Amino acid sequence: MDLRIQENCENIDWNQIRDYLKLVGMGYHKPESHKKAFLNSLSVVFIFDHEKLIGFGRAISDGAYQAAIYDVVVIPEYQRQGIGRLIMERISQRVSNCNMILYANLGREEFYAKMGFHLMKTAMAKFLRPEVMKEKGFIQ
Ligand SMILES: CC(C)(COP(=O)(O)OP(=O)(O)OC[C@H]1O[C@@H](n2cnc3c(N)ncnc32)[C@H](O)[C@@H]1OP(=O)(O)O)[C@@H](O)C(=O)NCCC(=O)NCCS
Repeated sequence: MDLRIQENCENIDWNQIRDYLKLVGMGYHKPESHKKAFLNSLSVVFIFDHEKLIGFGRAISDGAYQAAIYDVVVIPEYQRQGIGRLIMERISQRVSNCNMILYANLGREEFYAKMGFHLMKTAMAKFLRPEVMKEKGFIQ
């Protein structure tokens, strides 16, 4: 692997971001919405092998003491090779002064536990489409 780490949104193909999110079974939106979300994030990370995008992630934050991590993806053929950890480390560096929260896809809890995250006892969320989030197992 010839890894390149990019921490800005220059020359990102937002159709590809949508396609990768869809590929790994995560929530996806119109490409323009992903562009807006990443541009408005405090921390963004894109990982390339040669010129191929293989993973990404982002954090939104107040820049002072709170941050939330979203859209962490490694494409299937590159999973379990340390790329997810690299993405999390890079995202975390930019918000190292902050508490960090996220909601893990079912089955990914152990990955985040290895990154130092703990299950929350009182987390609550108000989703735009609660019935979908219930079906996916995110809420009771
Ligand atoms: C979850 C994901 C980002 C992990 O990325 P990855 O590159 O495969 O992870 P890494 O290789 O960096 O793994 C880091 C550690 O977590 C472990 N790990 C990774 N995925 C895991 C999983 N699904 N279950 C349990 N442990 C896992 C690895 O074994 C490794 O452990 P080690 O440090 O003890 O060797 C990746 O599998 C992915 O993109 N999945 C699909 C999208 C998704 O669910 N994203 C998360 C949204 S909440």
